[in-house]
Amino acid sequence: MDGTSILVFCVVFLLCYYALRTTNNIPTGPVSVPLLGNIPQLAGRNPLILFRKWRKQYGDVFSVYMGSQLLVVLNGYTIIKEALVTRGTVFSDRPHNFMLDKIKDGEGVIFTSGASWKKQRKLAVNCLQELGFGRSSFEVCIADEAKILIELIEQNTDAALNLKDILTTCVSNVMCGLVFGRRFSHEDKQFLEVAANFSEDAKYIGHASILMNCFPFLQYLPGDLLRTKTIMEHKKVFDKFYEDLYESHQSTLDVNCPRDFMDLYLTEMEKDSTLPNKEENTYSKNQLKALVGDLFGAGTETTSTTLLWAILYLLHYPDVQEKCFDEIQMVLGLERFPSLDDRSHLPYCEATILETLRIAAVVPLAVPHATARDVYFRGFRIPKESSILINLDSIFHDSDIFKDPGVFSPERFLDSSGQVMKPNEFIPFSFGRRVCIGEKVAQMELFIFLTSMIQKFQFLPVDPCHPPDLEGNLGFVYTPKCFQVHIVRRQDVKSN
Ligand code: HEM
Repeated sequence: MDGTSILVFCVVFLLCYYALRTTNNIPTGPVSVPLLGNIPQLAGRNPLILFRKWRKQYGDVFSVYMGSQLLVVLNGYTIIKEALVTRGTVFSDRPHNFMLDKIKDGEGVIFTSGASWKKQRKLAVNCLQELGFGRSSFEVCIADEAKILIELIEQNTDAALNLKDILTTCVSNVMCGLVFGRRFSHEDKQFLEVAANFSEDAKYIGHASILMNCFPFLQYLPGDLLRTKTIMEHKKVFDKFYEDLYESHQSTLDVNCPRDFMDLYLTEMEKDSTLPNKEENTYSKNQLKALVGDLFGAGTETTSTTLLWAILYLLHYPDVQEKCFDEIQMVLGLERFPSLDDRSHLPYCEATILETLRIAAVVPLAVPHATARDVYFRGFRIPKESSILINLDSIFHDSDIFKDPGVFSPERFLDSSGQVMKPNEFIPFSFGRRVCIGEKVAQMELFIFLTSMIQKFQFLPVDPCHPPDLEGNLGFVYTPKCFQVHIVRRQDVKSN
């Protein structure tokens, strides 16, 4: 083939490629290139900023290609509600994912669809309800861990401190209390490794999954560019950690007196095994393992990252920090530890938590959804099994809903009498069939951890003229860039 033929072939190929894209009624979007799709535009950039720009150009429903894979991005409250609630049966599957299928074996709740997902989710929700809301022991578990957090910070008040690791470990330990009925020492190497691994995986797994989905041959490359080998090694560490706990629970299980999530699940598993028409694999040891991994994966990094964002915004908005402190001091004083009963008496603190969830948009694109069948939506055709990105960030930064969305203002969540008020559009935990199952647990944790930290300490930027960057990194969770903070005991602030 000479040069001219190659050129003609390329031009014809590109014309066919773009003609096909424009005539099949799929949502429009930014120009993509064959094989790579929109990866070149997205690489190294913050997708949330690009999505804001593309929404203005292409409307509330636009498409992006990852390699040859179609991703439909849904923006704005009305569109998202229509998809997830009104047409929830079609829009609530999860896409196939090369990397996650490898880790999860199609089990658990976050990345599964259909009948298996429904059953595991129902059981998980029931167990969490029983453990989280019915029992004061769960509050005690959060408070115990928050007290340890305060002690750990106390030991570091003289030096600049990166709070990430201790927050992650404390929040992980709350999950351990919920799931395994016990906490782990902050010196326990195996536990620290598992907690750190989950945090690291949340950073890389999203990118690795997208690229491996598009280009499965990448798995055969030498080295560990996409960290997939590391992620698989982390899985082995978790499997071992889980195995020991599973054995000890099974050998001490008393079905009449379940102690934690694992016991509740094992109890259901026993009941299930005695049913005459038992469907295969409804509840199993592996399902439980995947579910426990899901609870850690979804419950730890989200909550600890929200706390980190809260501290970061308090560095930028010291007046908000002082208002929270004044409210706590007035209601609790400096000694009485916050309890959940105090929530209604600390509306400004509560509003600060809500404002953090809004402005930081911790899970800005939810977890990818997928269409269960071919569907017509808002005049577009969306094929079966397309990935759907729910752009929650587009709601939280919509100036028609939240005036001056770039400004951190807890007041927007207070009514004229100073009580907490949440607009319907505020959905940090998403909604519809896939709504986060840990919302109540997360809110309890955020309240106890944040108010107890503000009660005891003042948080200051290490360099008063340059507080740390408010731009974050997007993995599964939107995390702040690594930063340090200078912490002063409140009692020392007073005596200064
Ligand atoms: C600040 C903390 C949290 C935030 C902002 C958050 C947010 C979210 C969001 C946006 C989703 C995706 C929903 C969708 O796909 O439409 C989700 C799913 C999920 N979350 Fe959370 N979450 C938090 C904490 C937790 C906690 C503490 C747990 C566990 C106790 C948890 C367990 C889950 C699970 C299992 C799912 C998947 C549900 C499903 O696929 O059916 N989350 N979360």
